[in-house]
Amino acid sequence: MKLFDVYPINDINIVRAKDSYVWDENGVQYLDMYGGHAVISIGHTHPHWVKRIDEQLNQIAFYSNSIKIPIQQELADKLGKISGKNNYQLFLCNSGAEATENALKLASFHTGRKKIIAFSKAFHGRTSLAVSATDNPAIVAPVNETDNVIFLPYNDEEALKEYFQQHGRYVAAVIVEAIQGVGGIAVATENFLKTIRQLCNENGASFIADEVQCGYGRTGKFFCLDYANIDADIYTMAKGMGNGFPVGGILIAPHIHPKHGMLGTTFGGNHLACAAALAVLEIIEQDDLIEKAHDNGQYLMNELKQFSGIKNIRGKGLMIGFDVADEFKKLRKHLLQKHHVFTGEAKPNVIRLLPSLSIHRRQLDEFLAIMKNAIEELNSNPLKSNVIDLRT
Ligand SMILES: Cc1ncc(COP(=O)(O)O)c(C=O)c1O
Repeated sequence: MKLFDVYPINDINIVRAKDSYVWDENGVQYLDMYGGHAVISIGHTHPHWVKRIDEQLNQIAFYSNSIKIPIQQELADKLGKISGKNNYQLFLCNSGAEATENALKLASFHTGRKKIIAFSKAFHGRTSLAVSATDNPAIVAPVNETDNVIFLPYNDEEALKEYFQQHGRYVAAVIVEAIQGVGGIAVATENFLKTIRQLCNENGASFIADEVQCGYGRTGKFFCLDYANIDADIYTMAKGMGNGFPVGGILIAPHIHPKHGMLGTTFGGNHLACAAALAVLEIIEQDDLIEKAHDNGQYLMNELKQFSGIKNIRGKGLMIGFDVADEFKKLRKHLLQKHHVFTGEAKPNVIRLLPSLSIHRRQLDEFLAIMKNAIEELNSNPLKSNVIDLRT
């Protein structure tokens, strides 16, 4: 049987991983500045995470949500403490898209309304409502097309005010990424986020912060929205939450009340996922990873600003993007193939850096030295690059 060919794949087979390095089947070492797609938060195969999962696996991996699962409460307590959102409620699911789906549905249940405001270049996932709120027609199937989602320009307060003035009473939710990931590391202004908060308050709509990529400590605060000193009604989480174990969730403000049967999932909140998620929070807390992400991100961005060939270095903490000049558009492939460094991309010419929050300064210096060489190499021979064209 063939695999359904939907992913453009690099011809690399990674068989082992540790901290911020991974190794292929030939023993070649790669520096992971991509965090396996913003997923690795405490470092690949962290021993505490492995041990916690292993111990849980030997006790019980799964039983349905029809019984008490105390480790869910343990996770909720830890999450409340580290995020500072102690009075919020936790609903657990399995992925980012599912978190979006539940957040939007919950906002609609809560308000009794249908209209969702999303923003240009937003990415919220690929399930039905999540993809409807994603600004990429190429991945929206005909069945997902809906006039319940309205796209407004990102960072445009006036457009938002105007929309609310005319249609505010129909709006169930505004969903926003405080830093757009797939959209190319676009940072929302504090005023824009505060305007969303104010308009949601005035019109009885729910503010959903999609923190699947920018949350969980990555930007140097637990939630990226924390930089704006405001609270969302619902926060979505996934990627970094399990350090590679599939787990997602939403944090729900106290004024939104649950009803039996309103949300549900078979696998969400299973024992094993909770053990993985707890291990992540324990290491984030123990090793001050949020503070480290902040400081290391600042260092990396300052250093990158010295480089020629790349521009508009932007982001917060360890969620960093920069534009690559036309002459260097092979930089990402060159970094991977010649220098064995994984980075992320956003079309058409953005490189995204999303390393583990546990990455060390010496690894950042290693990356910076490689970047310098790679740019020099492409500079001295920009047209005749030795890079084979991989399907990325
Ligand atoms: C901001 C944001 N929301 C939602 C998702 C969807 O997450 P998942 O791929 O786990 O469904 C992503 C994935 O990249 C994302 O970046």
